[in-house]
Amino acid sequence: MSSLEELKLELKKLGQEYAKIKTMPEAERKSFGEKLNARKSAILTAIHKQEEIAESVNIEPIDLTAPFGENTKPFKPTRGTKHPLTTELDRVAEIYRQMGFNVIEARQLDDEFHMFDSLNFPTGHPARDGYDTFRTSEGFIPPAHTSTMQYRALTRFRDHLDKYGQIAVVVPGRVFRNEDVDATHEHTFYQCEGVFVSRDATLGQLLATWQNFFETYYGQKLHIKTQPGFFPFTEPSLEFQIEKPKSLSGKGDGWLEMGGCGMIHPNVLRTAGINPEVYKGFAWGGGIDRLVMLKFGINDVRYFESGKLEFLKEF
Ligand code: DAH
Repeated sequence: MSSLEELKLELKKLGQEYAKIKTMPEAERKSFGEKLNARKSAILTAIHKQEEIAESVNIEPIDLTAPFGENTKPFKPTRGTKHPLTTELDRVAEIYRQMGFNVIEARQLDDEFHMFDSLNFPTGHPARDGYDTFRTSEGFIPPAHTSTMQYRALTRFRDHLDKYGQIAVVVPGRVFRNEDVDATHEHTFYQCEGVFVSRDATLGQLLATWQNFFETYYGQKLHIKTQPGFFPFTEPSLEFQIEKPKSLSGKGDGWLEMGGCGMIHPNVLRTAGINPEVYKGFAWGGGIDRLVMLKFGINDVRYFESGKLEFLKEF
C-alpha cells in the first residue's frame, strides 16, 4: 500500500493531467475525463483510509497489567468521595462553629518552641519524652498533638479579650507519633484542640462544653467521667471519658477515654502575653479517629491511612 505522502503526490500529479483535456480532440475528451475521475476517487478513498489508520494510532501509554480491552476503553471519569476522616473533621468543626467557636487549622510541621517550651515543658523535663515525637534532620517536629497550636490560638485571638472578653478557638489537625502500629495505634492520626479564655472560665464550663460536643456529635445524651491526669500545660489536668454511645455500640456499657483537658497553666497564658492574674482559661484535646471508628463500627485504625479502595468506597 502506498504511503499517505505518495498518495497526496499522485493526487497532485493527477491535477496536472486535467489541464491536458483542453488540448485534446473533442472525441477523446470524455473517456479521458472519466478515467481521470475514476483514478481521483480511488486515490481519495485510499487517502481517507490512510488517515483513519493514522487517527487510530494509540499515543497514550498503556498499562500492560490491565485486563483485556481496558487500555482502549473510552475514558470515563468516576466521581470520588471524601475520605471519612475529612467528612467527620468537617462535621466536628461545624459543631464547634455552631457553638460559637472560631476554627483554625493546625500545622503539619512545627518546632521545639510550640511543641514544648510554649506549653510549659521545662527544658530536659522527662515529660518531653512522653510524646514519641518524630524530628526532621533540620530539627523540625511533625506535631505529636494539636496542643502545639495553643500558643498560636492564644496570640492570634488575644485582641478578642479586649473586644469580647474571651478567646474561643478550636483547632482540628493531623498529628504524628512514633508508635508501634496496631489495630488501635497509628503513627498518623487526627485530633481536635479547644481553647477558651475569659476572666471567669471554670472547670465546670470545660466539662459542659466537651460533653455538649459529644452529645451533639453522637446525637444522644451521654454521661461523662473524669479522672486526674498530668499535662504540663494544664493545672489541674484531667482525663476525660464518655459513656459508650448506646445507639452505636449496641450495648451501653463501658466508658471511653476521649482525651485530656484542664485549666490552662498560668505559665502558658503568660508566655502568650495574657495576664494569668486577670484571665483564666481551659483547654481540651482528643483524637478524632476513635470518634469516627466508634460512629461507623470500624475495628482497625489502620484502614484510615491504608488508601484501600474497598474501605473508602463504603463512605
Ligand atoms: N495534647 C494532649 C495529648 O494529646 C491532650 C490534651 C491534654 C490537650 C490537656 C489539652 C489539654 O488541651 O488541656 O495527649
